[in-house]
Amino acid sequence: MGDNSTNASYGKGTATLRDNLSGIEEAVRLLSLGKLVGLPTETVYGLAADARNGQAVAAIYEAKGRPKFNPLIVHVADIEAAKSWAELPPELERLCAAFWPGPLTVVAPLRKNSGIASLVIAGLPTVALRVPAHPTAQAVLRNFGHPIAAPSANPSGKISPTNAAHVLAGLNGRIAMVLDGGNCQVGLESTIVAMDGALPVILRPGAVTAAQIAKYTTVPPVSNTQPKKIEAPGQLASHYAPATPLRICDEGPREGELFLGFGELPEGAVGLDLSPDGILSEAAANLFGHLHALDARAIAENWRGIAAVRVPHSGLGIAINDRLRRAAHR
Ligand code: TXA
Ligand code: MG
Repeated sequence: MGDNSTNASYGKGTATLRDNLSGIEEAVRLLSLGKLVGLPTETVYGLAADARNGQAVAAIYEAKGRPKFNPLIVHVADIEAAKSWAELPPELERLCAAFWPGPLTVVAPLRKNSGIASLVIAGLPTVALRVPAHPTAQAVLRNFGHPIAAPSANPSGKISPTNAAHVLAGLNGRIAMVLDGGNCQVGLESTIVAMDGALPVILRPGAVTAAQIAKYTTVPPVSNTQPKKIEAPGQLASHYAPATPLRICDEGPREGELFLGFGELPEGAVGLDLSPDGILSEAAANLFGHLHALDARAIAENWRGIAAVRVPHSGLGIAINDRLRRAAHR
C-alpha cells in the first residue's frame, strides 16, 4: 500500500471508540476530513467514507485491497434521502417502505449530477442504496448529513466482521478509527434487490427473504446471484473465505477437521455450534464470528480444515448456506 493522504493514521494504529455521543462526533469529524471509519450496522460492520469524496472512496478500495470495478453500497438516513439520489421504481419504493430501516439494499438508476463519486458506482448507471436500522449508523448518517459509502469492513475476500475486534484484526493501521457498537444483530450482509424490467431480482440473499419480498411485489422475485455483467464481491464464487480450507457437509467432521455445527454437535466433534437450539436467526448472527474463531484456532493448533454443516435451506437458511458455499469455494 502506498502513501495515503486521505488517511493520516495509515501505518499507525487505528483508534477504537465506544459508540457513545463523543465517539459518534469523532466518527463524523473524521468522515468530513475524508477518512475511513469502521461503523456498526445491524448486518455487519461497514467501512465508511463520504460517498461524495472520490479520494476517500479510493481509500476504501485501497484499505480492503478490493478489485476496483466493484460498486459499493451507499447508506442514507431515510427513504427521502434515497429518493434524492436515485429514481426508485414503484416496486422498489414499496419494498423500501416495508423494510427500511433494515437489512435491505435496492439498486436503482442514479440521478444525474448526483455528486456521488463515480468510483462508488464503478461506472454503472445505477446505485445500491440502504437505510441501516442500527441506532449508531443512523446517528452518524444524521449528524454527517451526507451519503456514506460502506462495504463490509474486512479485507477483500475475507470473512465479514460482526464486531469491532474483527474489523481491527483485518484493517488495523489501515483506517482512522472503529466505532465499537458490540456484536451485529443480524450477522449477514443485506439482501440486495434490483429490477429487471418488471421482474424483481435478488442479487444477494440476506435477512429479508424472497417470501417476504413477494408480499410487496407484483411478480415474485427471482434469484440471480451469479450475473454475467456485474461481478461484485458478494457475488463472486470465492468470498467470505477463512484461511483454513472449509468443507460443507451433511454429517460430521473428518479426522483433523474442526466442526461448525447447527443444532447439537455430533459426539466427539471439536468446534462451535451456530445455534444449539437450531434457530436460524441465531445461526446468522453467529456465522462470521464463529468462522473467525475457528479459523484462528485451526491456524494456532494446526487443524487441517473446517467442516461446516449445511443448515436447513429455507428462510434465513438460504442466505447462510450461500455464505458457507462461498467460504468453501477456493
Ligand atoms: O449489509 C450490508 O449490505 C453491508 C453493510 C455494511 O451495510 N454492506 C455491504 O456492502 O455488504 P458491500 O459493498 O460489501 O456490498 C456491495 C454489493 C456488491 O456485492 C454488489 O453486488 C452490490 O452491492 N452492488 C452495489 N452497487 C451495485 C449496482 N449498481 N448494481 C448491482 N449490484 C450492486
Ligand atoms: Mg463484503
